[in-house]
Amino acid sequence: MDNLITDMVRSFGLPPLKRAAGVVTRLLPIPQPLLLVGPGASARLGEAIGEFGHRKVLIVTDAVIAKLGLMQPLTAALAAGGTRFVVFDGITPDAPIPEVEQGIALFKRKKCDAIVAFGGGSVMDAAKAIGLATANDMHPRELVGYFKGWHGPAPIYAVPTTSGTGSEVTVAAVISDPEHAAKLVIADTRIVPDMAALDPTLMTGLPPAITAATGMDALTHAVEAYIGGWSTPYSDRMALAAVRMIYRHLPIAWRDGNDLEAREKMALAAAFAGLAFTRANVGNVHAIAHQLGGRYHTPHGLANAIMLPPVLRFCAPDAGAKLAALAVHAGVGEDGQPEGVLVRKFLKSVETMNAALGIPRHLDALREADIPDLARAACWEADTNYPVPRRMTQRDCEKILRAVLPSKAAPKRAVRTPGGRTTKPAGKRRKRLP
Ligand SMILES: [Fe+2]
Repeated sequence: MDNLITDMVRSFGLPPLKRAAGVVTRLLPIPQPLLLVGPGASARLGEAIGEFGHRKVLIVTDAVIAKLGLMQPLTAALAAGGTRFVVFDGITPDAPIPEVEQGIALFKRKKCDAIVAFGGGSVMDAAKAIGLATANDMHPRELVGYFKGWHGPAPIYAVPTTSGTGSEVTVAAVISDPEHAAKLVIADTRIVPDMAALDPTLMTGLPPAITAATGMDALTHAVEAYIGGWSTPYSDRMALAAVRMIYRHLPIAWRDGNDLEAREKMALAAAFAGLAFTRANVGNVHAIAHQLGGRYHTPHGLANAIMLPPVLRFCAPDAGAKLAALAVHAGVGEDGQPEGVLVRKFLKSVETMNAALGIPRHLDALREADIPDLARAACWEADTNYPVPRRMTQRDCEKILRAVLPSKAAPKRAVRTPGGRTTKPAGKRRKRLP
C-alpha cells in the first residue's frame, strides 16, 4: 500500500514537468569540444594547449596512470611549448569528494588557470568538479544539480584513457559522497571540455574486464539516449553510429587490446554515445546503476552492463520500434523483419554480448534486504531526471533488481559474440584503474 501511495505521489505532475524539461534540453545550446583523434593525439593536445598561454595547468589523473608514464607525450609537449604544469594524481574510482577537495586546494595553491583531465571517467568528472568549484569558490556538494554557481570553470582539456564514460564531451560530472554512500551528479553546459584527445595508444594496456565494462557503459549511453523521450535527430544519429561501432569493435578490442583500429573506433563510439546522451539523457539502467555504485561500489560500467538486459526487457513493450531499429543498426537483424522478431534479436544480442565479454548475469554484491531501498532511490532518480520510455514503479524496479540477485548456480560464461564467433580474451595485461 505504501508503495502504491508513493508511486501515485511520484507520478502526479511529473510528466508535464519532464516534458517541459525535454523542450529546454532540446533547445539548450551545448558546446562541443574540439576532438583530436588518432595515435599521438595526446601529444598534439599538449602542443595545442601550449598556444593558449596558460600560466599553469593542473593535470588531474590517478596514481596508476602516473606510474605507467602514459602522460609522458602530453607533458613533454607541454614542456616543449613552455607551459608549466603540476600533477595531481590522487583520484580513485568514483571520484570521492575528499579527493576533489584536495584537487581544489592544489589548483588554488599553485595558482592554476587551466585543467587537463587525464584518465577514465572518475578522473574527468573530478576535474570538472574541481574546475567549477574553484571558479565559484563553492564546495562540490553545493554544485550538485543543474547550473549551480555563477561562473564557468577555467578551460578544461580531456584525455580519456578508457572508452566508455564519454565524459570528455558531456555536461555531467558524477562524484561520490562517501559519508552518505551516494553518487552525486553535477550538470552544467559550462563543464564540457574545450578540447579532447582520443588517443588509442593510451588504451592498449587496458585489461579485458575494463574494456568490457567501459564499452558496455558506452553502449548503455547510446541505447538509453535513443529509446528515451528526449531524443533528437542529432542524438539519434550519434547513438546509432555508436551502437554500430560498438557491436563491430568492442569484441575485437576485448580480444586483442593492442588492435589500434578497434581501440580508436571504441574511443570515437564512446564520444558519439556521450554526445547522444548529453543531449537526450540516460534512463532506467543508469538510475539503478548509480544506486549499485553508491551502495556496493560496483564499477559503473559493470553495473550498467548487468542491468541493461533486464531493463530493456522491461522497456520493450513501450520501445518496440526503437529497439527494432537498434537491431538493424547493430547488425543482428534485417530491415523488413517483423518488429517483434527484431526486438527479440536485439535483446538477445545484448545478453550474448555480455556473455561473450565475460560479464556476469548476476551482481554478487546485491542483497535481497537492500532491494526496497535501492529501488526507491532508483525510481526517484529516474522520475526526477530521465525521459524513460517506460516508467518503473517501485514493484517493477524491485522485480528488475531481483532478476540479477546472485544465483547459487555457477555464473554462465558463454563465449560467442553476437556475430557468432568464438572468442577468448587476450592474456593478462598490466592492471590499470578505469
Ligand atoms: Fe554511464
